[in-house]
This record gives sequence, structure tokens and C-alpha cells, in this order.
Amino acid sequence: MDKRTFIKELALAGLSLPLGLNLQAGKPGNVRSRGLRNGKTVPLADWLGQYEDASAQALADDEVYWEGIRGGYKLKPDYINLENGYYNFLPETILEAYIGHVRDVNYQGSYYMRTVQWDNKSAMAAKLAVLAGCASDELIITRNTTESLDMVIGGYKWKVGDEAVMAAQDYGSMLEMFKLVGDRYGVVSKVVSVPNHPASDEELVALYESAITPRTRLLMVSHMINITGQILPVRKICDMAHQHGVEVMVDGAHAFAHFQYNIPDLHCDYYGSSLHKWLSVPLGSGMLYVKKGLSANIWPLLAESNHSLSGIGLLNHTGTLPVHTDLAIADAVDYYQKMGPDRKEARLRYIQQYWTKQARVLPGVIVNTPEDPTRSCGIANVGIKGMKPADLASTLLKKYGIYTVAIDGAGVQGCRITPNVYTTPQDLDVLVKSLKELGANV
Ligand SMILES: Cc1ncc(COP(=O)(O)O)c(C=O)c1O
Repeated sequence: MDKRTFIKELALAGLSLPLGLNLQAGKPGNVRSRGLRNGKTVPLADWLGQYEDASAQALADDEVYWEGIRGGYKLKPDYINLENGYYNFLPETILEAYIGHVRDVNYQGSYYMRTVQWDNKSAMAAKLAVLAGCASDELIITRNTTESLDMVIGGYKWKVGDEAVMAAQDYGSMLEMFKLVGDRYGVVSKVVSVPNHPASDEELVALYESAITPRTRLLMVSHMINITGQILPVRKICDMAHQHGVEVMVDGAHAFAHFQYNIPDLHCDYYGSSLHKWLSVPLGSGMLYVKKGLSANIWPLLAESNHSLSGIGLLNHTGTLPVHTDLAIADAVDYYQKMGPDRKEARLRYIQQYWTKQARVLPGVIVNTPEDPTRSCGIANVGIKGMKPADLASTLLKKYGIYTVAIDGAGVQGCRITPNVYTTPQDLDVLVKSLKELGANV
């Protein structure tokens, strides 16, 4: 489907610009608004078509363009949602497609489950593999990152005294899973602490290397640290670990479909992500990448009865699942590609920098995310000196109508701020105003 067709489909789905959007409210001097009927609401199809050749950088601060994307979401008016990190709820076009899949699977019933269910799941995995830049026999669909990565940790063929390296800033479920295999198999967890403001990639590589010993077998690293939004130099860490004979498992929960990369270019051995985060697949969708030839290193979580399967397929037995969720993967990938992965990345980085640049210089305000734009994208974390993160989160909600999540641990005290493609600079102006007022009281 080309971009024109996609735009037409959006329009047919009734996704026109938000009621009463006044195009005069767009960025002053925006040449792309020429030819439009100023002051009138126009269909999204007429409007988005003008942007076909616009570059990601040119569109990053083009508020008219992003207002159109925002118009495709049904937004709850009660608060400004700056907590998209847990779940990137769906734009209406994906939601409607998903509801259609629920109806269709229900209509076909067991016939669907006994006939095309598996072919469709394979087709979805193949589509994801193209997006991830890997081979289709290196990727399976799971329910989430937790299932993907805990399957690797729990299924690894550990021996007593083996060591694994990880960071205090990694996600709790994986840290807990390493403790569980510690109790079960005698695996020792070596935990480093990643600085919020590293001076260089080399500092981070050396930090991880310092925890490796001759007994180390597996190193876990977050592609993007979930509590601060810091992006880690994963490829350099993988190359270093491989020199020591250590395999690397990457937690990509927040990276996939947030910023662009091909998984094989990271040189990792295992990679897990949640598709209900940045790809906007309905809840309960994830993926696991296992580099070709390595799947035999992992004991499956559940035994596969189809003996014709081999390789990564042996890790993918699930039992009966909400299979309509799998089907929505194609809709979410199409939506993402038509919006433009490069446009999304540039916009998310732009809006994060929009507010953090202002916040970094405010008295009493601490930004816990690196300033270097290559070390972050949409997510950042901010605290107020002397204020508990939980109090900050509740004040932001009650006094300013901003919904966030408090982070208090692993060297990070603040609220995680996760905008999405529908977030406006005006939303973030409210955040900056609140930080200014709260920081001034310190
Ligand atoms: C870095 C990281 N890893 C793993 C997870 C777990 O994701 P899920 O609950 O979708 O399995 C999260 C959830 O926020 C996360 O931030």
C-alpha cells in the first residue's frame, strides 16, 4: 500500500482532522499549508498528501503535520498523558482494524483456530522480521518482553557458579528472573550501575567489562533504560562481551518502533521487545529474536508437539491465545511505516529536547537523562530537588493535570516523562510551567 492509498484509507475510516481544527493555527510560514482553505476543517486525505516528500527533520517541528496524526487518536480529556511508556494505546485506525479481527475470529470460531491460525501467525512474524531487519527464522511472536527475556534467562543451560552481568537500572522482572535462576541453579548475578550522565560510550563499555570474569556466560543490557530513557551503546557492549566469550541478551522493550535500527546490526545474541509499547499493537504482544544457530542454547518454556518444527519454532509453543492480537501486528506495522519511522524518531527526539532544554536550566530541577541527543529519544526523567518522586507525580496530576509515573530507585529520583506522536508542545509547556513553579519552591 503506498502512502496515498493509506491516507485515503484513513479518511475512509472517518479519521479526519479533529473537529474544528483551524489550519491558521499551524506553524506560521509553513509553506505546506498553502492551497488549503484557511479556517476550515479539511479531510486528512486532502491534507496529509502534501507531505509526501517532506523529510523527517523538516517535519519534526511542523505542528500542522503532527496535529493531523493527533487527530487519529481518541484522547481522554481528563489529563495530559505523559505516561505512554507502559502502553502506547492505539490510534483509532489500528483499534478499528483490531476490533474487526476480534469479530472475524469470533465469526469463524474453531474453524479459524484449526485452519489458518498458524499460517497467519507466521506471516505476522515474517512482517516483523522485515521491520527488525532479521531473517524470519530468527524471530517469534510472544506475549511481551517479560516472556521473551525470561524464557532466555530461565531456559539457559546454566551450571552452578555461572555468572551473569546486568545493571541495577534494568527492568525488575528480568532482575528477579536472574535471582530465581540463582536460587535454582546457583547462577551469580553481577550488577553494575549505569550513570545517568555518562561521559562516553567507552565509559559504559568499560563499566560492563569490569563485571565480566572467566565464569560469565550471559550479559543483559537495556537498549533504552526504561526509567530514564537513556540509550546504551549496545553494539559496542556486544562486541566487547563477545571478545570475552560472553553472549548478550538485549532488553529492547522501549526501543523497537521508537527509534530506528536493525537488530542484527547490534551484534546481539538475543533481543526481546513488547509490541504494545512503541509499535502500538494491542496489549499482550511481544517478540523474541534469537540469532541464527543459537536457539538450541535455550530450553523451551513449553514443550512443542509439532515435531516438524526446528530452530526458533521450538521456543514458540504457547497454548491457546487471543490470536486476533497477532493479526493487528500487520495493521500496526503498516501504520508505523506510513507515518514514517524516521519521522516518528525525529519528532519524538524533538519534543523530548523541546522540554528538557528548558527544564535543564530551571533552578531546583534535575533532568536524569543525558543531554546528548544521540543518547536518548522520546523518554526522559525529571525530578525536583528534595521532593519525593511519588509526591511529584501526584502534584503533577492533581495540580497540573499531567499523568506520569514516579521512579524512585537505582540512582533515579523523578518522574518518567513519555510523550507520544500525538503530544503537542503546548502539553509540554504545561509540564515546563509546573517544573518552574515546583523548582522555585525548593
Ligand atoms: C525495559 C523494560 N523491559 C521489560 C519490560 C516488561 O515489558 P512487558 O510488561 O510488556 O513484558 C518493561 C516494561 O515497561 C521495560 O520497561
